[in-house]
Amino acid sequence: MPPAIDYLPARPFGYARKKGILHCESASIEDIAARFDTPVYVYSSQQVLERFGLFSSAFKSHPHLICYAVKANSNISLLRLLAQKGSGFDIVSGGELERVLTADRKAAARTVFSGVGKTAPEIDLALKAKIRLFNVESRQELEIVAERAAKSRRVASIAVRVNPDVFAETHPYISTGLSEHKFGVDMESARELYRFAARSRWLHPSGISVHIGSQIRAAAPFGAAIARVAQLVQSLRGEGIAIQSVDAGGGLGIDYSLSDGGDPAQAVAEYAQAIMAGMGGLQVELLLEPGRFLIAQAGALVTRVLYVKQNGAKTFVITDAGMNDLIRPTLYQAHHEIIVVRRTGQETVVADVVGPVCETGDFFARDRTLAAVQPGDLLAILDAGAYGTSLSSNYNSRNRPAEVLVSGRKTRLIRRRETLRDQIRAEVTT
Ligand code: LLP
Repeated sequence: MPPAIDYLPARPFGYARKKGILHCESASIEDIAARFDTPVYVYSSQQVLERFGLFSSAFKSHPHLICYAVKANSNISLLRLLAQKGSGFDIVSGGELERVLTADRKAAARTVFSGVGKTAPEIDLALKAKIRLFNVESRQELEIVAERAAKSRRVASIAVRVNPDVFAETHPYISTGLSEHKFGVDMESARELYRFAARSRWLHPSGISVHIGSQIRAAAPFGAAIARVAQLVQSLRGEGIAIQSVDAGGGLGIDYSLSDGGDPAQAVAEYAQAIMAGMGGLQVELLLEPGRFLIAQAGALVTRVLYVKQNGAKTFVITDAGMNDLIRPTLYQAHHEIIVVRRTGQETVVADVVGPVCETGDFFARDRTLAAVQPGDLLAILDAGAYGTSLSSNYNSRNRPAEVLVSGRKTRLIRRRETLRDQIRAEVTT
């Protein structure tokens, strides 16, 4: 029986071990590390497409548009991969909009703009690009959208993001659906905003949106939130405000652990069922904003062991990747599986896997059982495709990693490793 740490049935990295060496699709991770150096983010295009397919088929009985949440990973090549499958996009900044337009100009018509703090220039950019929908989060924002729309003489389609006051079990930093959070507006205020929009010549109230948080593994809270939204849609229709789309947001979680080998097809099927049940037969187009579910498990951060160090009773495996490359473990106490790229013997070690950054919070795992490793060995930190690079930084003046997209045997550099020149380009030194 192989050691538990190598048993990874639900992931692209792991089941493709060939002659003991971890592969991504048909590409050897050792070869990738030799060619592109480490740390390096590696993504499986097949896995992204498979997840997109799972998502679409779970909702196939209902008119829907998947709007991939760009914040999860905004690499233009990944956006293009999804755009080619007809994906729409959920953006939260002008920068994300520019990325989507670079990936595919036509995708603007499939783009929704979320976020509590849109600036006037960002709104102008979105109006000019003719995006599909603004998910508006406050009265003041709605007024600005109306003003900018009037100025550019373009009607803005809007949805009000409602805060359903529904609790969902997740990390407090990524829970958004309670009234104590900054997101959305309560049901009564939403009604007021729709009335305001209906009176404005430059606003078209066409949708409604909700997003209760991220990394939510239970389906029920999604259904509860949508049921509340559906009620509001019915009552708005009663007032003559014809809502045509319901945006259910993102947030479907994944299994970061190895324990239950969670079946993603089943998870998304249950999620879809809960949402449809919550809609209760409402005739609307459904918009969905998955990020993590589509991209997280397609990616791994590959890093090399620099040193193995003993401090008292503790063992530290020091890698060339740090918290600036992947901040999830320290920011959210998130668990990421870490496996050796080349399988060694059965010997294991209990260690903290840490980076070179000068903070005690610079860790990927604590007291983790790993295969015994030596300096020079490669490790793969799994499920790092979402909120890995997009949350990375230059802390400690470290260059951000290269990114490689794998398709079958082919490997393509989709972002070269940063250089110090890139880092200091914007600095004024004279
Ligand atoms: N739609 C909206 C309005 C959102 O705010 C988010 C995520 C999504 C969709 C996509 O959620 P997903 O399907 O990826 O869960 N950095 C954190 C996650 C932050 C999520 C922020 N909003 C992490 O690494 O866990």
